[in-house]
Amino acid sequence: MDRAALIRTVWPEKYQADLPDPLGKVKPYQAGFCADVEAKFGFAGKRVLEVGGALNRDFVLNDLRVKSWTAIQEASYWESIGRKIDDVATVDYASFDAADPKTLGPYQVITAPIERLPEKFYESFDLVVSIAAFTFIQRVGPALDKIYRALKPGGGFAMMAAQIWSSESGLFYHTVTDKMGRLFSSYGLPGHTNPVAPWAHLLEQPPALYERLARHMDAEAAGNIVQELFFSRRINRLFAEDYARYFDISPFKRFGAMESNIAQRDLPDAKLQKKLEALHPGRRDFNTHMILAYGRRLV
Ligand SMILES: C[S@@+](CC[C@H](N)C(=O)[O-])C[C@H]1O[C@@H](n2cnc3c(N)ncnc32)[C@H](O)[C@@H]1O
Repeated sequence: MDRAALIRTVWPEKYQADLPDPLGKVKPYQAGFCADVEAKFGFAGKRVLEVGGALNRDFVLNDLRVKSWTAIQEASYWESIGRKIDDVATVDYASFDAADPKTLGPYQVITAPIERLPEKFYESFDLVVSIAAFTFIQRVGPALDKIYRALKPGGGFAMMAAQIWSSESGLFYHTVTDKMGRLFSSYGLPGHTNPVAPWAHLLEQPPALYERLARHMDAEAAGNIVQELFFSRRINRLFAEDYARYFDISPFKRFGAMESNIAQRDLPDAKLQKKLEALHPGRRDFNTHMILAYGRRLV
């Protein structure tokens, strides 16, 4: 088996403990993404920056065989889903101020937003990876700018993002409980149901959705779902075309290279496609559920 196949299938199995990062599970989508990045850029011997997460320490040091791994996360994301950063990750530095890229150890977690990366970190990394995090980054333009600056010339960037607002999976809200104790969320979690119809976030206005939901649950729960879906600050609500545009105007396109899987393909349901286009003038891509993009800094 080659290294990419081992990364995808065999090695992640060693790290399934139910522990906070960076000791917790390596999830199948994380392993699959790392296998793709291994095939595209390779990890061994590299200084890697992870944007929005902290992959298992032993996995990255012993299996991916990186030289160093610096993981950055935003504490406010975890607070928005009722978790404290300390419950989900071991934090080494509470801000960029406290960390010095010249003396960083082989593995460290920093809580700070990527778009605030200070100059002292510029040209420090051979590779930047980001898994399931871009949907939660509000300032995508500056984030791409900082990722480019964080790379050494010749360095690579790989990102994967899901829950793209313009697709069916953009219908994304966290757990809401009603007065009867029923759990609602957009995830297919055991014991949870999702009373929001597919595409409702793009087809209905908040009051219409509220009215529909309030027929089946108490007003507070219905209001909470509507708030989560349309107004929570957690997700960025960018359409796939917005990401494509941000990639186009990023330094990767201007001074480097950038490719992505974003490609306009109409929905199989032509009537729905037409309706969505009418409600969202100028938009056509309602079918990109997951974005995979690769960049390279050339100069
Ligand atoms: C859905 S979690 C994904 C975590 C992990 N990568 C995974 O695969 O499970 C989203 C992550 O994005 C991080 N995040 C959100 N905004 C960020 C920002 N501006 N800069 C860096 N990380 C950010 C959050 O702290 C959180 O760790």
